[in-house]
Amino acid sequence: MRRLLIVFGTRPEAIKLSPLVLFLRGQASKEFVVRTCVTAQHRGLLDQVLATFDVTPDHDLDVMMPGQTLGEVSSRMLAALEKVMRAEQPDLVIVQGDTTTTLCGALAAFYQRIPVAHVEAGLRTWDLEQPFPEEMNRVVTGRLARLHFPPTAQSAANLRNEGVRAEDILITGNTGIDALFYILRQLESGRLARPEWPFLDPGRKLLLITGHRRESFGDGFLRICDALGQLAKRADVQIVYPVHPNPNVRGPVNERLGALPNVHLIEPLDYVPFVDLMSRAEILLTDSGGVQEEAPSLGKPVLVMREKTERPEAVEAGTTRLVGTDVTRIAGEVSLLLDDEKEYRRRAALHNPYGDGHACERIAEGLRSFFAHGKMMPEAVPAAG
Ligand code: UD1
Ligand code: UDP
Repeated sequence: MRRLLIVFGTRPEAIKLSPLVLFLRGQASKEFVVRTCVTAQHRGLLDQVLATFDVTPDHDLDVMMPGQTLGEVSSRMLAALEKVMRAEQPDLVIVQGDTTTTLCGALAAFYQRIPVAHVEAGLRTWDLEQPFPEEMNRVVTGRLARLHFPPTAQSAANLRNEGVRAEDILITGNTGIDALFYILRQLESGRLARPEWPFLDPGRKLLLITGHRRESFGDGFLRICDALGQLAKRADVQIVYPVHPNPNVRGPVNERLGALPNVHLIEPLDYVPFVDLMSRAEILLTDSGGVQEEAPSLGKPVLVMREKTERPEAVEAGTTRLVGTDVTRIAGEVSLLLDDEKEYRRRAALHNPYGDGHACERIAEGLRSFFAHGKMMPEAVPAAG
């Protein structure tokens, strides 16, 4: 039995790794001993997801502090992860994505000469400032990793261009789409109840907003709020904004939008109600990575409030358009979608560029090949998508 230690710490990592934990502990339980360590870089946002997927971590480092800096949270994590890895002695450490937890998990494993597998590998903007610090986190994690699980052919090509050997790369689709399809199936079959939204007006189109990127702190968020304030004046829309708990986000959002009657500022939603709300929305406005991946599989147009994206597949599919944080551009692009039905329909077509819901199976297969042959032998594994 090979010992795997899965390390995660924030909301998106938990959403994208919970299906893998459940799969490896379920269908693959005879081959792998699966241990989990949460850094709790996020506390409330992480706990919401753990409860949704019924995952109880074996180790909880509980590092989150209000208003934490990158250096503080990294040093707390690295020190604590070292102890966990010494105690657990895993054959492989699995990390996901591009957060501080991802990088610290990979670095702590590297220092103890434990091989690292990187899930959602190979995403790039080629600009270390955008998104900050995530582009650096994923580039360095990629350099430290022994195995790479990119979601798409483009992210795999990025890795090969950086010199990663083909036999160490396996295209899997994104495990986030496994999570999304799992929840959608439960909602559609009635096993999960559809949430109720008493404050929503069925006569108005729903704009669903999320935002938290560090490069937009300050003026960027003020401009985003001004654009939303303009859009809120339209009688045919309603705006729902589950506000990220980061004080750099909460401050300006509450101050600028708190008093507007047509804007509902709410607490971050559990994953199931958030999926349900995305499926009811007319347009998603976000800077989130995960939402950019989920939107094409839900057939929802997305306006991405960033200058660059590492997820070009949804732009190519027509679902996603970059609008930055410029007031006129955001308001204009939303109005275009609201007022031009043909354009809306074109951009709301269903696509699955980020996966078919079977990423976890492919990752398990890649791990089997690695432990048996020292490489993933992509030719032996069915291709994604
Ligand atoms: C982090 C990740 C980002 C990811 C995002 C997902 C880094 C550097 N950033 O950004 O890549 O897209 O999570 O949401 O890893 N807070 C709470 N409760 C929570 C979570 C956060 O109060 O459950 C507040 C705290 O004051 C905390 C602050 O938000 O100090 C910032 O959290 P942090 O994880 O450092 O950064 P995020 O902006 O959440
Ligand atoms: N999400 C959620 N509740 C919310 C907002 C987002 O469950 O109130 C989910 C969303 O569906 C996606 C993930 O959280 O799966 C994205 O997380 P976030 O935007 O915090 O991080 P990113 O993806 O940008 O790293």
